[in-house]
Amino acid sequence: MSKTFAVIGDPIDHSLSPNIHSAAFRELNLDCSYIAYKIAKDELEEGIESLKKIKISGFNVTIPHKVEMMKYLDKLDESCSIIGAVNTVTNDNGILKGYNTDMDGFLEPFKKRNLNIRNLKVLLLGAGGAARAIVVGFAKEHAKSITIANRTLENANKISEFANKIGLKANPIRIDEIGETTKNYDVIVNATSVGLKNEPSIISLDGINSKTIVYDIVYSPINTDFIKKAKEKGAIVIYGYEMLLGQASRAFQIWHGVEAPYNAMKKALLGGV
Ligand code: ATR
Repeated sequence: MSKTFAVIGDPIDHSLSPNIHSAAFRELNLDCSYIAYKIAKDELEEGIESLKKIKISGFNVTIPHKVEMMKYLDKLDESCSIIGAVNTVTNDNGILKGYNTDMDGFLEPFKKRNLNIRNLKVLLLGAGGAARAIVVGFAKEHAKSITIANRTLENANKISEFANKIGLKANPIRIDEIGETTKNYDVIVNATSVGLKNEPSIISLDGINSKTIVYDIVYSPINTDFIKKAKEKGAIVIYGYEMLLGQASRAFQIWHGVEAPYNAMKKALLGGV
């Protein structure tokens, strides 16, 4: 029987998840479809009811529902309960189970490059939903410490408390306090949405060197200004599309029980690039 999957969020028209998953269905000859479904912030409950009515087999969750969605789950995978946010849901005859594949998706590019996170000093820009999954990832891989820099200090404080609670030494600062301190870090991650509209990087990367790992989770454009500045310094660069593919291939495996066709998914995302 044909199966239907979806990604829910708002805005949703620019989501690349339908392209990625559809390419995987074609590659593996699966009788499945994947739709982008716009659900406004205050209409999540009705949105989920309509997904159940059409017997959705599973769905991805994105901004602004990743935390709110937790309320509507019948079961939680550990990945989801520890992060406190959900990005992947399975539907077993109306029983919804939540997973979070963002953390593993984030860590995958480090593994692919054989980069060991243990004892590294991290500077994380941003303190939103994505930052939470990233903090759990760095805690799991035993980073030495994390500085959480955010425009709104209050949000940095919250994530910092969370990091300390799960055993990762953290301190919160405002982004404009970073100044020339980037040389003190082994890894610098942009988990703010800055770059999506081609804005210039919010920090200077002048102090970094060829050993610094610079990771932008913004994937569109592929070469953000932040990534370009890191390349100019010869740094080790990790692209946002790698995390996107990492979380998508894990969601695929959860839904279909087989390994995702990574290269077909990557090709759908990058085209001929
Ligand atoms: P996500 O789920 O992708 O993390 P989010 O929860 O909306 O999205 O978080 C967006 C992050 O980008 C926040 O850290 C936000 O900073 P604030 O906490 O101060 O809102 C950050 N951000 C968004 N626009 C920004 C801007 N123009 N300058 C600096 N930081 C920005």
